[in-house]
Amino acid sequence: MIEKLYNTGDLSDAELKSLITSEDDGVSEKLALYADKVRNQHYGKKVFLRGLIEISSYCKNDCLYCGIRRGNKNAQRCRMSAEQILEAADIGYKLGFRTFVMQGGEDAYYTDDLMCDIIVEIKNRYPDCAVTLSLGERTYKSYKKLRDAGADRYLLRHESADCQLYKKLHPAEMTLDNRVKCLYNLRELGYQVGAGFMVGAPFQTVENIIADLRFLQELRPQMIGIGPFIPHHGTPFANEKGGTAELTLRLLGIIRLMFPKVLLPATTALATISENGRIKGLQTGCNVIMPNISPKDMRDKYELYNNKLSSGSEAAEGLENLKKEVESAGYFISDERGDAAV
Ligand code: 5AD
Repeated sequence: MIEKLYNTGDLSDAELKSLITSEDDGVSEKLALYADKVRNQHYGKKVFLRGLIEISSYCKNDCLYCGIRRGNKNAQRCRMSAEQILEAADIGYKLGFRTFVMQGGEDAYYTDDLMCDIIVEIKNRYPDCAVTLSLGERTYKSYKKLRDAGADRYLLRHESADCQLYKKLHPAEMTLDNRVKCLYNLRELGYQVGAGFMVGAPFQTVENIIADLRFLQELRPQMIGIGPFIPHHGTPFANEKGGTAELTLRLLGIIRLMFPKVLLPATTALATISENGRIKGLQTGCNVIMPNISPKDMRDKYELYNNKLSSGSEAAEGLENLKKEVESAGYFISDERGDAAV
């Protein structure tokens, strides 16, 4: 079955289900070998870096899984000024980052005008860098303004392509329809788009995961971000079980074979639950790492889930360590912007 997936890039739902649920460890190993091979065909041993700037832990949404949901009264709220963001980008640039990801909760403080000013300034200072936004759902008009100001990419995980599951994970005022509409709007506007979902979210079934893969086949995003669900103590899902590294890796391998040229990050969530998660991710087809380059006090407050890693190899100052870690596994950190292979 893995050969078939490798050769054709697709499987039937029933085949996907048996591949996802197989308890044979040999399956994971073989999948990793093939995923690594396909990643090498399109990207070699290169690993692209993204400097993640967590600009705000304020959020108007109340997603049941997320530590910065509005209903979490104990969350520490904090936002970065334009000057602080530019300073973080400055530090990041000097460290060699050529992509900056500005990510935050849905925070009305960041009006289109303010974001446009920041984007224009970053693009002026560093014309060789890509600017990625991850600011949640906004209107077409807003996405257009940000794109016209120079934003290149947008990350917006669809979270679940199954309407029923989507509803269980989100408050009533949020809809899958709008999420999907946002993603298609972004694509139409010429952004390089990232979508994705959490692995092992509460109530998630294998069928739900297959629906996610089918949705991704339709959307054809340039990046696919998946990581294990990790409970956060200040949310309604505090006592739910988290997703596993094994299932996350299994899916990363499958995604690499279904989407040979996609940008696939070894996520912080995976590194948080698994000692060697980042490297295992690379060995299973991943080719992107997103270290945190926010100032330390901001990082501490941007707590999406319990024990979220924000230091060591996850952070700007750990870059040398990260380089060593990546190199000792036989990969290397690229100094490019890291656009998707065409
Ligand atoms: N566990 C894992 N991932 C989470 N995210 C939010 N909360 C959690 C959690 N508890 C993910 C969401 C979001 C991304 C920024 O972080 O998928 O899109």
